[in-house]
Order: sequence, then C-alpha cells, then structure tokens
Amino acid sequence: MMKSINCGLLRKEHVGQIVTLAGWVHRRRDHGGLIFFDLRDRSGLVQVVFNADISEPAHTLAEEVRSEYVVQVKGVVRARPEGLINPHLATGEIEVEVNELSILNAAKTPPFAINEATEVRDEVRLKYRYLDLRRERMQKNLVLRHQITTFIRNYMDQNDFIDIETPILLKSTPEGARDFVVPSRLHAGKFYALPQSPQQMKQLLMVAGFERYYQIARCFRDEDLRADRQLEFTQLDMEMSFVESDDVRALIEAMLIQLIESVSDMKIQQQPFPVLTYQEAMDRFGIDRPDLRFGMELIDLTEAVRDSNFGVFAHTAAAGGQIKALCVPGAASFSRKKIDLLTETVKARGAKGLVWMKAERDGLRSSIAKFLTEEEKDAIIRLTGANEGDLILAVADKPAVVAESLSTLRTQLGAELGLADPDTLALCWVVDFPLLEWSEEEERWVAVHHPFTSAKPEQWPLLETDPGAVLANAYDVVCNGMEIGGGSIRIHDAEHQSMLFRALGISDEEAREQFGHLLEAFSYGAPPHGGIALGMDRLIAILAREESIREVIAFPKTASATDLLLNSPSPISDRQLEELHLKIVE
Ligand code: AMO
Repeated sequence: MMKSINCGLLRKEHVGQIVTLAGWVHRRRDHGGLIFFDLRDRSGLVQVVFNADISEPAHTLAEEVRSEYVVQVKGVVRARPEGLINPHLATGEIEVEVNELSILNAAKTPPFAINEATEVRDEVRLKYRYLDLRRERMQKNLVLRHQITTFIRNYMDQNDFIDIETPILLKSTPEGARDFVVPSRLHAGKFYALPQSPQQMKQLLMVAGFERYYQIARCFRDEDLRADRQLEFTQLDMEMSFVESDDVRALIEAMLIQLIESVSDMKIQQQPFPVLTYQEAMDRFGIDRPDLRFGMELIDLTEAVRDSNFGVFAHTAAAGGQIKALCVPGAASFSRKKIDLLTETVKARGAKGLVWMKAERDGLRSSIAKFLTEEEKDAIIRLTGANEGDLILAVADKPAVVAESLSTLRTQLGAELGLADPDTLALCWVVDFPLLEWSEEEERWVAVHHPFTSAKPEQWPLLETDPGAVLANAYDVVCNGMEIGGGSIRIHDAEHQSMLFRALGISDEEAREQFGHLLEAFSYGAPPHGGIALGMDRLIAILAREESIREVIAFPKTASATDLLLNSPSPISDRQLEELHLKIVE
C-alpha cells in the first residue's frame, strides 16, 4: 500500500509514530517557512506541515502543490500545541510533520471548490460528477447508502431469504409504465425490454419453490422525472410464499425499525406503524401517501353549507361535489398577497378558487361571510376547530379536485410553517386500495397496483358487477409523505388471473400471448404468495435528509433524462443501426 494509515484515523495515540499518508490536497496554506496542507482521503482530513528547517526539499516541492493534487507524504505524528487544537476536526489534536513528499498526480483547478459546501449548479455538478462525489456531503450519502444496503442484505439473509438475480433483458408487456426496449440483432424486428421491476420473475420463483426471495434490483421505467423519480432506480424486491399481507408487513416493518435505529438518529413517530385504509387517507388527507408528521387534516364542510346562499357551495354540493377545508393554525395574519399565492397553488391543481375565512374574536371574517348564516358560520368554526387567529381555506369542487388541491396546499403549508419536524419519521401503512381505476384516456379499467395483485377474497364476485368497488389485497408503506414501498398478495391461480385480465379488457388471446408463461406456471401448483418492493433511493434520501433521490445515486440522470457526464443518450453508428435492423425516421 502507498499509505500506512488513513488520514482521518490519526489520533493522539499515534504521536511519535512515523506514518505514510496518501490522498488529495483539500486545502493549502503557505506561511513562508511553514506550509500546511489539509490532506484528505475517504476517512477524513488531517493537517500536514512542511517546515523548511526540517526538510528543505519537501518544503520546496510543497510550494508547487495546489488544491486537489494527489500526494504521498511521510512524516512524524506530533501533538499540536494547546492553543492550536482544532476541536471541530476528528484529527484536530495532532498534525503530521513531513519529511518526504511525492506528487503522485497534478490536478487542474476544479470547476468548483471541493472543500466548501457552496451551491453549485446541478448541471455542473453532474457534468463533473466524479468531482462532486469527492465532496463531503456526497461521500457521506454514498457511505450511508452502502450501510443501508448492507443492513438489508444481512436482515434478509437472517430471515431466510435468498438473493436471486433475474434478467435485465426481459420482455415488453402491456400495463404499467412505458418500457425501455432493446432491439435484438439476432431476431430482426424483435425487442427485449428492461424490467420495470422483477415482478413476474419473482412470482415464477415462488412457483419454483424458493419460498423466500429477495434482490436489490435495478428497475427501469421510461417516465417523466421528478425529485423522487429516476429512469433507473433500485428496489429492495422481495416475495414470500404461504403468507398473508400481515406477514409481509410485519417483516418489513421490523426491518425498517431496526434499520433506522441502526443507521439514523431520526426518531420514528409511532410504532407499530399506523395503518390507514386508502379511503381514510383520501378523506383525511386527500392523498394516499399522507405526511403524518402534522395534523391540519381536510375537514368536510359539505353538509354544513349544502343549503348556503353562497352559490359556489350550494351548486357544488348539489352537483355531487364536496366542500372541504384546512384550518391553518395562526395564519389569520396572512396577507392578501399570500392568500393570492395559495390560490394559485390550488388553481394549478384544477381548483376554480380558494375561499378564505379568518377566525377572529367576533367571528368569521371573509369575503363570503355576508352569504353565510350564523348557523353556517358556527358550524364551520365547530367542524374545523378554528381558534382565534386561525385561517380556514376551503375548496369546493369534484372530490378528486378537492383532494388534489387541498393535499398539495397542506404539504406546502406544512413545510412553510415548519409543521413537519425534519427529525421525525412518520411511517404508516396504507391498505385496502381499489383494485382497479377507470382510465378516461384509455376508456377502460386499469390496475391501480399491477395486474397480478389479488382482490381481497370476499371481493372477487364484485369484479363482474362493480369493478371500481373491488378492494385489492395491497399495501403501501409511506414515510413523511413519500411512498417508499408497495406490494400485495398475488393472484396464484390461472382462473382468477384470467378473470382479472378480462376485467382489464385484455382478451384471452392477448393474455395468452403476453402472459401465457405466467398463466401456465400457475397451472403447475403455484403456492399462495405475496411480497413488496421498497424504493431504495427514496428510503435512503429520507434517511440522508435529502430532498432529491439524485443526491443518493452516484451517477443519476438530469431532470430531462440525460447523463451530462457521459453525454447520453447519444447516436449510434449506421453500422450498429443496420445490425439491429433499425432505421431512424426524422
Ligand atoms: P411499485 O411500482 O410501487 O411496485 O414500486 C415500488 C417502489 O419503488 C419506488 N419507485 C421509484 N423510485 C424511484 N424512481 C422511480 N421512477 C420509481 N418508481 C417506483 C417507490 C415504490 O413504492 N413490483 C411491484 C412491487 C410489488 O408488488 O412487490 C412494484 O414495482 O418507492
């Protein structure tokens, strides 16, 4: 090895020892006869000193060195004098007095400072990702990622799961997100598809008798990117045979608790995790992934204002819509301008407007107050629990619009008013999702989760009469308003699977063509089974206190799905196109 110890490990007990260190020059200070480097390697920083009186050649060479040069030094560990101890640095009690210096490699001036936590544009960070990754924040995040992955592998192993790899070159199937496809050279006009998840393969592994499978699996989905979405992302994917949904949830819940306790100092708000039905989550929060760190729930005012003289309320209620409100604590002081901004937020989510009512000592003040009777005002105050100084914000619309606009407003205000404690992890389960939802675009029922999810046993008969009312045997795990995982108990017999395909408008012939392998496998003794997949990037980002999953992925794509470091996607040669039997049509 070119070094005898790592920089960040040096302590007082090493005083007097001769050490060889190698790393990057994090910072350099030239005081004439004395030159100081903060020398950095993965373990941390240590101060090294070049004294012209001790080694003239080393001191002279140190004059040439700049930030990010790669160097090797040999020297003696010395205790720092009392007044020069740096309590903020783990190695702050010592320094290394250098006798020999070798420059292992020079470095150009980096496009941004590695040694400062300055804001750098994302495009620059991603273009020079290898430099960005040198920074402390990114080193910490990727080490945390490694710790989490290692913890999970051990946990799964201890619980008798076996790690099985599944193909990356898979088959394109309908349903789900858009596939990434790979053209076949050997089979003209045919394509593989990259897995959106190992869903079908893990079910086949259950048919194959493995009983407990897991994989830290890469998944690919051609979706529009957001802070919590990448084209390729990682799942903890698992599947178990002979289980009910409670078994899967208990195993994952215990894992998450132990994981958090082992890698994080954040506190879990409630254990066991609260379990909400989908309906309850929608009613109370307007969203199926509620942030439970704070209250400010949606309050239904529909009945209280059904007969109101305020036309918007009365018409909405009569048309089968809803009037719901948030009671924002202490926000009666919000300015007109602020309320206008909040109105823009709900309008962007499809609402026609936002009604505001301020709770004041002598009652409700609002531009619509004159249309409301005393009973209506009393009911609004009673239902919202508004105290003097609170602000009530209401939306009247179709239930879906009310839910979407008020849940967005709730999240935004929760953040702005500091209601969501950044040190708390509010984990919960959301269960009893609908199995199917109506797609206006496709004019047919589509699977809410995926088409292998089972209905709750007693719900199957409804599939033919009232498909939208069928509840799935599915569960999501949510943390601080983010969906970090989802799974279900699966269909394990060909008959129910065909029934579901029919409900989805997939003909028997199409089903045989696209999913024949699964239907056939189910006819050879498939065990009852179920599983879940956790979004590793999201989980890690939360534990790293990062807003975007990009910050916990070594080489992510930009929001416009490009790789600025490798410059991809990129064209391929005519020869490659020809081999792949492809033609580019402009
Ligand atoms: P699902 O599609 O819900 O389920 O995905 C599971 C979890 O993966 C994460 N996730 C993503 N993370 C980053 N970028 C993305 N584009 C992205 N898409 C999803 C989310 C999500 O909860 N096969 C099923 C699981 C099962 O039923 O067992 C599946 O993939 O955190």
